Amino acid sequence: MTQRTLVLLKPDAVRRKLVGEILGRIEAKAGWTISALELRTLDQETLEQHYGEHKGKPFYEPLVAFMASGPVVALVVDGERVIEGVRQLAGPTDPIAAQPGSIRGDFGTIVRENLIHASDSEESAIRELKIFFPGLS
Ligand code: RTP
Ligand code: MG
Repeated sequence: MTQRTLVLLKPDAVRRKLVGEILGRIEAKAGWTISALELRTLDQETLEQHYGEHKGKPFYEPLVAFMASGPVVALVVDGERVIEGVRQLAGPTDPIAAQPGSIRGDFGTIVRENLIHASDSEESAIRELKIFFPGLS
């Protein structure tokens, strides 16, 4: 089942020069294709839309501040079961709980600075792709 997902390499990944490492893991999966990619600094409006589901939670304000603290790499990936697949590559939200071998498990320590975002369902992917790459067909 071919799918499309929205991936963000968070500011910690860019600052720590892990972009090549993380993109390499995505590229290495058979048949997956990066169909858009851009380094960009996210504004408040974009972040409010993207993380709207978390508004009001204690971690929301620091999360938005962190996500605006430097450029991210935003990309679109197409391929077989790519929504579930990139979430698996990333590992669970808490990097200490994440298995070694996953991106968060290999490189992360604290929950907020967990390196990567990936859409968590087809619905989220459609919503997030519209926010980040509205012109993509
Ligand atoms: P994401 O949306 O970034 O792909 O991550 P996720 O689905 O694994 O986690 P989610 O629950 O959607 O949380 C979004 C991001 O908020 C930060 N967070 N901090 N307790 C905390 O301090 C806390 N909880 C979540 C993380 O950066 C998480 O990825
Ligand atoms: Mg999430």
